[in-house]
Amino acid sequence: MNITMRFFYVFVFVTMHIQNSSSVDFDYLAAFNFGDSNSDTGDLVAGLGIHLDLPNGQNYFKTSSQRFCDGRLVIDYLMDAMDMPFLNPYLDSLGLPNFKKGCNFAAAGSTILPATPTSVSPFSFDLQISQFIRFKSRALELLAKTGRKYEKYLPPLDYYAKGLYMIDIGQNDIAGAFYSKTLDQVLASIPSILEAFEAGLKRLYEEGGRNFWIHNTGPLGCLAQNIAKFGTDSTKLDEFGCVSSHNQAAKLFNLQLHALSNKFQAQFPDSNVNYVDIFSIKSNLIANYSRFGFENPIMVCCGIGGPPLNYDSRISCGQTKVLNGTTVTAKACDDSSEYINWDGIHYTEAANHFVSSQILTGKYSDPPFSDQMPFLLSLKF
Ligand SMILES: *[C@@H]1O[C@H](CO)[C@@H](O)[C@H](O)[C@H]1NC(C)=O
Ligand SMILES: *[C@@H]1O[C@H](CO)[C@@H](O)[C@H](O)[C@H]1NC(C)=O
Repeated sequence: MNITMRFFYVFVFVTMHIQNSSSVDFDYLAAFNFGDSNSDTGDLVAGLGIHLDLPNGQNYFKTSSQRFCDGRLVIDYLMDAMDMPFLNPYLDSLGLPNFKKGCNFAAAGSTILPATPTSVSPFSFDLQISQFIRFKSRALELLAKTGRKYEKYLPPLDYYAKGLYMIDIGQNDIAGAFYSKTLDQVLASIPSILEAFEAGLKRLYEEGGRNFWIHNTGPLGCLAQNIAKFGTDSTKLDEFGCVSSHNQAAKLFNLQLHALSNKFQAQFPDSNVNYVDIFSIKSNLIANYSRFGFENPIMVCCGIGGPPLNYDSRISCGQTKVLNGTTVTAKACDDSSEYINWDGIHYTEAANHFVSSQILTGKYSDPPFSDQMPFLLSLKF
């Protein structure tokens, strides 16, 4: 290739790139997050008044930090990379929460569909958005009334239009449905779940939200909780030991979520919708775990029962119980960085770091944002 040709190729490549990725610029004034345990920084624990103890948080925070993980979540790494502080949970009334740079409404166990009396979390997607709307009007009211007193703690009006609205929810709708439905019924229920998602997105848009960052759902069939319950018959498992039906449902959910994201973008051209393919990142991690420095793709770090899953649904990470007359505790493994799965449902900090670094390559986003590479440099471990 001669020099002129090479220049031409580079030029075309760069031009194409700019066109494809112009809608993500990471210069956000605040972040508002909605979701489930994948991004809950303490909301469920505060809201229900429950305890989540060590070894949760042991690697990084040195206290449980109210997250279902041994350390940081993907949302923590993303906030860090955007040079923003970790998000305070909406319901945390203690510890002098500062909401200037945003607020986290995500609560573990939450669903897109409205909660029922047996739901783990009453804070479904629609309710989280109502909390956000109340947060916004209350914050603006306080700022108007009290002048400078709350300036340091609450986001002013322009922060809502220039803020990033992050959403990671759907895992509990899909995984939960399998307890009462056949695979066909689960698949058939996906459009109605996504109708509720779309309605929520529109409410955020009506409130002034324009920048949306949507995570799709992961390979749920690879979580020990689902393998223990639905994968006892090995014909139900795929080549990686994951429950096929759960992954099939997750894939269909994602296909429709992606279509919804594109439709929303087309319908509201002044919005920026970034759809992130978490499923592919996590599937790649589980299938190719040893290449990424992990030793156990499926087996749980903080659990009980030993290989192959080291998981027992009756005892959660850190809990002690009497089983069959013997007192047993679900303890953490020696080195959680060798494990992808923390407690049977959630990923370890090491896995979350991997997932975050893959998100930040921009390759898993639609639209992609790989011209934003300098952003990657601030990812800390
Ligand atoms: C595992 O890695 C290979 C080689 O890079 C890749 O082709 C394959 O798609 C990966 N597996 C998954 C499930 O992503
Ligand atoms: C409890 O004891 C019963 C009867 O011996 C046995 O079948 C079962 O596997 C035991 N459960 C556990 C968790 O050890």
